[in-house]
Amino acid sequence: MATAAEYGLGPNPFPRGWFVVAESSELDQGPMAVRFWGRDLALYRGESGKPVMLDAYCAHMGTHLTGATSAMIVKNGEQIEGDSIRCPYHGWRYNDKGDVDDIPYHDGPCPKSASIRSYPVVDSLGAVLAWFDPDGGEPEYDAPSLAETDDPQWVMGPLDHLGELDIHPQEILDNMADMAHLGPTHGAPSQYFENEFRDHIYIQRQGGPMQLYGGAWLYTTTWYTGPGILRSKQVWDNNEIYELIFNTPIDDGRVKCWHGVIYKSANAEATEADIEIQKGYQAGALEAFAADFNVWASKRPALKIMQLKSDGPFKHGRKWYSQFHAEQDCVAPIREELNGKVGTLGMRSAEEAGHAIDEGLAI
Ligand code: FES
Ligand SMILES: [Fe+2]
Repeated sequence: MATAAEYGLGPNPFPRGWFVVAESSELDQGPMAVRFWGRDLALYRGESGKPVMLDAYCAHMGTHLTGATSAMIVKNGEQIEGDSIRCPYHGWRYNDKGDVDDIPYHDGPCPKSASIRSYPVVDSLGAVLAWFDPDGGEPEYDAPSLAETDDPQWVMGPLDHLGELDIHPQEILDNMADMAHLGPTHGAPSQYFENEFRDHIYIQRQGGPMQLYGGAWLYTTTWYTGPGILRSKQVWDNNEIYELIFNTPIDDGRVKCWHGVIYKSANAEATEADIEIQKGYQAGALEAFAADFNVWASKRPALKIMQLKSDGPFKHGRKWYSQFHAEQDCVAPIREELNGKVGTLGMRSAEEAGHAIDEGLAI
């Protein structure tokens, strides 16, 4: 395990962006105590359905708002009122902005200094996404989404919860530039490979024969929107899926990951049989991704990569990732330096290979 500073990232130890903090269906079961970006957080769904995330600890006496679940107010199902939550200890009520607006045993105005931080949160991609900015800034771009998640022809199953890894997310992001691992790790050596940077978006286009699909050619366009949300359009034979990989920092050098697949069925409205096909594809995609995961779980940190000329553009990718740890005024120069396509020595571009499959993609 290594920290952001050890990778030369900073000054912020945690990156700014949209991140997954839970699966949507998980939050439907009730309030959750979670930890991301080195802080404890209270996550709940208001009665309107709106997801809300607040810093965890009540200003009164430091109770974790969603951590003390045996309090009677929780057992009675009275903790959530509208989109507000009551602290389980003495019942102070926090609204979705993090301000205390009611104290059950107190007549005067509620103390303004009792306010705690509230984070922008939305449901998207089957998950609850939160915007994190170390400086508390508002979201700089919309939360990533896909229209296909609401299309009856497409099937999405539950997310795979991959748990926590003692690895810095930088190493997960390195995958985007990593042409040479696709053969040995995934049994799918690239026949063409390119990367493109567009401000907060990092794209990879590649394709080649995939051992797990019986040697059928797999064409992929994969992109990160910010540091935590990967979407990947993948096409082989007559099949089309989106693979989703989410990573969210827990502490500096520790990360939580989720995985999902959305499958385009052959029917205008997906059938029971399509649901089974989706499960098979998600399991297959997970098997492929698990090979990366397995490497990450056992490797030592690559604080510097011994980058060969014929490796993919790791250094560009790391520079791109550094924008999310940088002060705001350093972001634009990084983007200006990187924006555009980068090839990998010995590899054709997607265009040269005639497989730019991201036509019409909402990248
Ligand atoms: S500790 Fe939260 S209301 Fe007292
Ligand atoms: Fe990989």
